[in-house]
Amino acid sequence: MAGESWPSKKVERMAQEMSWKDFSAMEDREKVPFLNNPNGNPFHVLFAQQFNRENLDLLCQVAEKARLINKDRKKGREFLKSLLFGTYALNFFAQPSTRTFLSFQTAQEVLGMGIRDIRDPSTSSEAKGETLEDSIRTFSSYVDLVVMRHPHEGSAELGAWVLNKSDRRIPIINGGSGKDQHPTQALLDIYTLYKSFDGQIDGRTIVMVGDLARGRTVRSLSYLMKNYQGVELFFVSPPHLRMRDDIKDFLDRHDIFCQEEDDLEEVIPLADAIYMTRVQDEWDEKHIKGKGVPVRLKFRQPIGPKYRFKKEYLEWMKKDAVLMHPLPKRDEIEEEVGYSSDSRVVFWRQERNGMWIRVALIAVIFGKEKEILDYQMSSP
Ligand code: CP
Repeated sequence: MAGESWPSKKVERMAQEMSWKDFSAMEDREKVPFLNNPNGNPFHVLFAQQFNRENLDLLCQVAEKARLINKDRKKGREFLKSLLFGTYALNFFAQPSTRTFLSFQTAQEVLGMGIRDIRDPSTSSEAKGETLEDSIRTFSSYVDLVVMRHPHEGSAELGAWVLNKSDRRIPIINGGSGKDQHPTQALLDIYTLYKSFDGQIDGRTIVMVGDLARGRTVRSLSYLMKNYQGVELFFVSPPHLRMRDDIKDFLDRHDIFCQEEDDLEEVIPLADAIYMTRVQDEWDEKHIKGKGVPVRLKFRQPIGPKYRFKKEYLEWMKKDAVLMHPLPKRDEIEEEVGYSSDSRVVFWRQERNGMWIRVALIAVIFGKEKEILDYQMSSP
């Protein structure tokens, strides 16, 4: 049902014969033929590096058009619902989520899909010892698309590997995996930048602030920057939460300017976009003395005053700059800022954009982009 299937018979044969050890050991760019359709658009969505400028622009255009079509409450909405009517999606979320879960669910409904979900793995047969691989193979017996959030890095990739070997090869979308990546969040961030700057992301200065070591959203967004010319990145974080070297090496290899900064106040006036993130302390672990059992810390780490966005900073921002946040937020943005009517505070719009870019992504995975782009709006 989805997309155009394999790029070639050779890739199909290789995927079916390849062990998990060999697949997981490949470089990300080597995996792309096993993830994308022959036209370069995604089939499985695992990481940001599989997107290019062409399909990023396409996704933004499809999201814009789907949004417009949806304004026509009768004919437009019926058209969108007809696109994937009779197909089913499973949202398998083994980690907490509000936005990603709800926006995928709503996007699927916009496109007419039937929706299933598993939010608590203790209610699935994983609790009886079924492997994740077998669970995912089982999902494909009932649905046409799996969206998955999981605490373990590489779990969506494992799913793609299993499904590539299956005679019911359905797409899998990574809705956040471990501390590694959150590719669809990066797509909605790109769409937000696209909308904020009339499609002109090239040459922009983006300041990323907060827990850059474990924030999977900033990692995925940094990877996408290779698709834009002349972008400059500033990373502002406490020393123990600095952006990891793999991202800095990637940016270096792609000639993307990036600089670590300790002083948020200094870079605010330079920024076209300020991207705040919270401390990801759900990843903190300590060991109970004597037992060696890892438990989650119960307390919440504050980010510290140097890395908080204060209301007065709105005065320091450029007139056309935007303040973004993947949400949920905590103390890293003063509460008043969230209720401000300043149009440069875009994070509530950003989460709404997430639903539309996910509509576009699912439509593109299923090869429905042309139908959306060619749809003739009826005259008012
Ligand atoms: N931004 C984001 O992933 O939010 P949720 O954790 O609520 O899905």
